[in-house]
Amino acid sequence: MRAPTSPPSHPGIVASRILATGHYAPERILTNSDLEKMVDTSDAWIVERTGIRERHIAAEGQASSDMAAEAARRALEAADVRADELDLIIVATVTPDMPLPATAVFVQQKIGARSDCPAFDIAAACAGFIYGMSIADRFIAGGAKRVLIVGVELLSRVMNWKDRTTCVLFGDGAGAAVIGPRSESDGARGILSTHLYADGSQANALCIPGGGSKTPATQLSVEAGLHYVHMAGQDVFKYAVRALSSASLTAIEHNGVTKDEIRWVVPHQANLRIIEAVSKRVGIPLDRFVLNIARYGNTSSASIPIALDEAVRAGTIQKGDLVLMCALGAGFAYGSALVRF
Ligand code: UT7
Repeated sequence: MRAPTSPPSHPGIVASRILATGHYAPERILTNSDLEKMVDTSDAWIVERTGIRERHIAAEGQASSDMAAEAARRALEAADVRADELDLIIVATVTPDMPLPATAVFVQQKIGARSDCPAFDIAAACAGFIYGMSIADRFIAGGAKRVLIVGVELLSRVMNWKDRTTCVLFGDGAGAAVIGPRSESDGARGILSTHLYADGSQANALCIPGGGSKTPATQLSVEAGLHYVHMAGQDVFKYAVRALSSASLTAIEHNGVTKDEIRWVVPHQANLRIIEAVSKRVGIPLDRFVLNIARYGNTSSASIPIALDEAVRAGTIQKGDLVLMCALGAGFAYGSALVRF
């Protein structure tokens, strides 16, 4: 893999900070032992190979925008920001309510944001929240005051529940953050950098091949299961370890901080073994990684904001802590962010 070369987000100027976070997970929990009754798998295999013990599954009739709106309300409440104060709504998702229009416009309506508030989706898969944070940061640098980012996924609807190589891995949920301008009184707090990358040569390693304009949904495409997630697990695994490590090291070097100064790493939660390997390569001990994969599985773009919000609300991440985030997903799209809370 080529060494990352993307330019720094905004050299020397810290424009924005995370004002608050929120998350929502559907009530229903599907455990590994439930899965044992559905496919040829075992709790032991799933725990040993992935670290996952259970995942949340959305209720029938519940849409991505419902979960996103709930996470957004919680983030807005924690930020003490009214929905009608928002200047922009970004929804990161690969499981939108519909191919058209953007899920963000449904979220706009559900949370009561202004009906002229710009709202759009981004499809950067598991890196969606980091991509969204980077976009929000630039809008804030350009004068926006309040930006909402939601990472939301309803992956249970795009799983082949007969394919044990994928269905045991993913879960549903939403995480949100309100981003605002950094003020003088914030001191060193803020989004210090974001680094984004994509490698389209790996596009087929993780994809939903059918249902788009290339292969529209037909009876044949559905019978062939092309509307489900397809993944070359081992290829993704190897690339993820290298890319997450390199993007993390770039964030550290770019900001001139030491590894010891990083209080917490909030990685995308795809596989505990990937996270362990990244911890070794980057040289930051695993006990400084925020981990919730055992309870959520892989929730793609929702995984970082859910983990972040849990850690903030539990008092694990505290004001002033230096927090490194890194994610890789389909594309492959990947990246890192360094944030002083
Ligand atoms: O969000 C970002 C994108 N996703 C990822 O980052 C995921 C990256 N990949 C992975 O996490 C791992 O590659 C997996 C968890 C998907 C698979 O783990 P692995 O250690 O790479 O297993 P494997 O694919 O090499 O499969 C080993 C064996 C195979 O059996 P044989 O051929 O050795 O007889 C599989 O058929 O495990 C079998 N297997 C299972 N056995 C029980 C695969 N899935 C299961 C399962 N239960 N659910």
